[in-house]
Amino acid sequence: KPTIEGAGVKLRRAFGFGNTAEFDPFLLLDDFRNENPDDYLAGFPWHPHRGIETITYVLAGTVAHGDSLGNRGSLGEGDVQWMTAGSGILHQEMPQGDAHGRMHGFQLWANLPSSLKMTTPRYQDVSAQDIPDVIDDDGTRVRVICGNFWGKSGPVDRVAADPRYLDVSVPPGQRKRLAVETS
Ligand code: FE2
Repeated sequence: KPTIEGAGVKLRRAFGFGNTAEFDPFLLLDDFRNENPDDYLAGFPWHPHRGIETITYVLAGTVAHGDSLGNRGSLGEGDVQWMTAGSGILHQEMPQGDAHGRMHGFQLWANLPSSLKMTTPRYQDVSAQDIPDVIDDDGTRVRVICGNFWGKSGPVDRVAADPRYLDVSVPPGQRKRLAVETS
């Protein structure tokens, strides 16, 4: 996992941004976990997106957000932001961390098929309390953000790539295997 230093923010890129042929419709996955505010407070001031969807999942800290549709808000622990850039949107994402200086979370970029590249931009915030979780017998906890899993459906829907997005917490000392669809 390379550490990326662009526009004043350090983050880890799990995959993407270059040649995406192997994992399209997913284009990028960034892990912005950081304990040092100097590494992230510069944030991502106003910038454009087009032809993709971005899905941001915050684990700790807050991200202040604004966009050219007039949406304004703050994402906190456990919250999800789903944005369909479509024909084009301007937004800014400013990480603010928590009282301990922590800023943890992920941003996924999903491609739009050619028929939806120029679709009307859409934006949705999902609060942590609206994300269902399921706990298995061994204590494994799964938050279902998008798609179906163990009988629950995630509140983020209509993402064109139709992903299954899960946050899986496995208790210490346990091993867990989860089947992954390859289609
Ligand atoms: Fe962005």
